[in-house]
Amino acid sequence: MVEIAGNGRTWLLSGPTSSYAVHLTENDELLHLHWGARITLPDAEALAMRPLPDYWPFESPLDGREEYPMEGGPRFVRPALSVRTDERRGTEWTFETYETGDDELRLRFRDAGLGITLHYRMRDDVVERWVTLRNDGPVVELLRADSATWTLPDRDQWRLSQLHGRWAAESRLTRSSLTYGEKVIGSRRGHTGHQHLPWVALDADATEERGEVYGCALGWSGSWRIAVAQLPDARVQITGGAGYDDSGLLRLAAGESFTTPVFAGLWSDGGFGGASRAWHAYQRAYVVPDAERDRPVLFNSWEATEFDISEEQQRALARRAAAIGVELFVVDDGWFGARTSDRAGLGDWTPNPDRFPAGLKPLADHVHALGMQFGIWVEPEMVNPDSDLYRAHPDWVQFQPGRKRTEFRNQLVLNLAREDVQEHLWEQLHALLSSAPVDYVKWDFNRCFTDAGWPGEPSPQRLWVDHVRAFYALLDRLRAAHPGVAFESCSGGGGRIDLGVMSRTDQVWTSDNTDPLDRLAIQHGFSQIHPARVMAAWVTDSPNTQLNGRTSTLRFRFVSAMAGVLGVGGDLTQWTDEELAEARDWVALYKEIRPLVQRGDLYRLRPPTGGLSAVQYVRGDESVVLAWLQAQSYGEPVPALRLRGLDPTATYECRETGEVYRGVVLLHHGLRTGLRGDLDATVFRLCRI
Ligand code: GLA
Repeated sequence: MVEIAGNGRTWLLSGPTSSYAVHLTENDELLHLHWGARITLPDAEALAMRPLPDYWPFESPLDGREEYPMEGGPRFVRPALSVRTDERRGTEWTFETYETGDDELRLRFRDAGLGITLHYRMRDDVVERWVTLRNDGPVVELLRADSATWTLPDRDQWRLSQLHGRWAAESRLTRSSLTYGEKVIGSRRGHTGHQHLPWVALDADATEERGEVYGCALGWSGSWRIAVAQLPDARVQITGGAGYDDSGLLRLAAGESFTTPVFAGLWSDGGFGGASRAWHAYQRAYVVPDAERDRPVLFNSWEATEFDISEEQQRALARRAAAIGVELFVVDDGWFGARTSDRAGLGDWTPNPDRFPAGLKPLADHVHALGMQFGIWVEPEMVNPDSDLYRAHPDWVQFQPGRKRTEFRNQLVLNLAREDVQEHLWEQLHALLSSAPVDYVKWDFNRCFTDAGWPGEPSPQRLWVDHVRAFYALLDRLRAAHPGVAFESCSGGGGRIDLGVMSRTDQVWTSDNTDPLDRLAIQHGFSQIHPARVMAAWVTDSPNTQLNGRTSTLRFRFVSAMAGVLGVGGDLTQWTDEELAEARDWVALYKEIRPLVQRGDLYRLRPPTGGLSAVQYVRGDESVVLAWLQAQSYGEPVPALRLRGLDPTATYECRETGEVYRGVVLLHHGLRTGLRGDLDATVFRLCRI
């Protein structure tokens, strides 16, 4: 809902529990008024009457109060917008008009030839913000064009939560006190990156279930930056957008425009748990395609067979996968071109003739005959120098003239900003998806940008933005042409996870780390912002082959992976009959609890910090608890799990134990898990009776 004050200079957006208000001064300064608990229009108007503080000449009264700080004039904060023409640098805008409709507010400003529109859209309690810049004058260089600046209310001490990581160790949660100055996170790698999820949360005194939490998440799959600044008067602002440096995003000629990605903000007073549940609901309702449809249990061949694959061997795996209840069989890397190792073949998206002499169709048909869907792995934005594509088009990659072409994993990045490259990839992938009945594509991206040059292009800098736009356009075009095909976003695990890619893929590969214990922490961090509905998790072999050799029971591995979109990634040909039978039971159990896991409300009962940890999902009258014990010390009793989200007056039956409890007892005294020793795990299903 958008409300406008009588003077047409104060705007109020409201969701079910929160409001957001801005005010335009007589000097056309756009000031932030309110973000937090729901208020009325008279409240917003009263806030707008408060005068700006009177500062000495060394501080600016605008700093920390503007909705979209520009460069120039009385401002010392990091500008959200920094532009220059041949003539001058900076912006001095005048207000033109506002428009409303569809829960969206557009505020239009102009500075000479440059039109600047700030967009606000309320999606439940999430405020989506973005900016469009349209140039109708001489060339304008966009040095920086952030999506939004968020302003927090005054509190005694802010605390920052972030999700940091690296390859195989993504999305680990840390919280730290904010101090004066700036904290900057981001990626200068050309993709979202494993190092930070583009999300921050700020709170003053929240707990998992109580207190105010502000969160901001960016929807962009290229380089990005979020800066959290505590200004000299202790006010806090969060600015974020595409690109890491301010060295130039794009040049806009007359008639050209740029739309920033969406930077979404959420206020919640339900603690970290409440904020996560609101983020999850928002993504399921407005971001993730077909989120009301549950994702199937998949098998992925990567850890089982790596590059050494053949049709016969994949058929054997498929038969075993089908027998344990798998619904989607995915052939990972190694099926195409000369791809028998990571040294060759990337770029040549036709089946390897030695491995699949009649193409992929016979295997796909076999998989379908076994009652499963069929999926494949691709990495379209990359090329091995040892490939037919690179031999034919060595200039199709990103490179700087006269410089070395840096290889990572023996591969180079294609320059997707080029239209010929875009068209080639479309043709290859469209042909591939038309050549065999493919239901699922795992889309990988296995290295960062390094030599992002584009010889011959007058404005090579645009490659960073245009690559992402071309990637999105390619996905959109493929989805439109092949509506039955689901897509997974992967980038060496979780290197490309953000709201932008999530709006055009069906799930994401959370991490290459499939160790079930490490995964608990990775999943704990991931769940701060993203829902289990997109969080792919595989059960792989024990000892763990990829990372650490850790031994764990099938039970522990399954219960860990059942917290997301369950997959199996072990070498099933090596599993014993007993293991296969046990796996079949776990898969069957997962299918039963799947609607709760994928579409329910998540409560993190205890974080994975060494002892007992647990999550609970609640949907309607049903609930399921997944609990893990990392290590029991000194034989001490394992604490009972106090549940959440239940009706205290209702009675619940536990399917596992047959015991009947009143809700109030589960909420106040908890459920005894019976877990003991090391790496133990269990599942409890509760149903209201
Ligand atoms: C990346 C992915 C893995 C696998 C390999 C294949 O590392 O994250 O899951 O697909 O590539 O080369």
